[in-house]
Amino acid sequence: MRRAVCPGSFDPVTLGHLDIIERASRIYDEVVVAVLVNQKKASLYTVEERMGLLSEVTGCYGNVVVDSFRGLLVDYCREHSIPVIVKGLRAISDFDYELQMAQMNHGLAAVETMFMTTNPLYSFLSSSLVKEVATYGGDVSGLVPPLVYASLVERVSRP
Ligand code: PNS
Repeated sequence: MRRAVCPGSFDPVTLGHLDIIERASRIYDEVVVAVLVNQKKASLYTVEERMGLLSEVTGCYGNVVVDSFRGLLVDYCREHSIPVIVKGLRAISDFDYELQMAQMNHGLAAVETMFMTTNPLYSFLSSSLVKEVATYGGDVSGLVPPLVYASLVERVSRP
């Protein structure tokens, strides 16, 4: 069985993430969407909330599962017998850091990284920008799944 992991913070999942997950699910038998538990990074959603949103929006794909992980991604890959990491590359600005991580992960545990070019519709998109725009009342309805949009509107409008 060919398995791959799509790792990330997913705070929250955007249409850019979903595009990569959906395309990966057509290539691999099983895709694990793995949410990093990172106490050092301030987040809008808890890991459980992020996993809940991801489960809802990927529920239509029969071979996508959602999980979380702490520590090194390669340790998670080893423990779950996952040989491949799938990442989206939005622009050349992503490349330097992604290359470093891919080479480190390969050096540490021979885990491969497959890069997919992001759909140009979403090449400017990031969770951070979505949160910032939503916080100031900008319209992010075309950038995140409807469920995430509803949740964002509710969350950022809280006093
Ligand atoms: O959505 P993000 O925050 O850009 O995702 C980054 C992520 C989670 C993929 C990356 O930070 C990661 O793999 N973190 C786990 C810790 C780790 O393995 N660090 C060494 C990377 S070479």
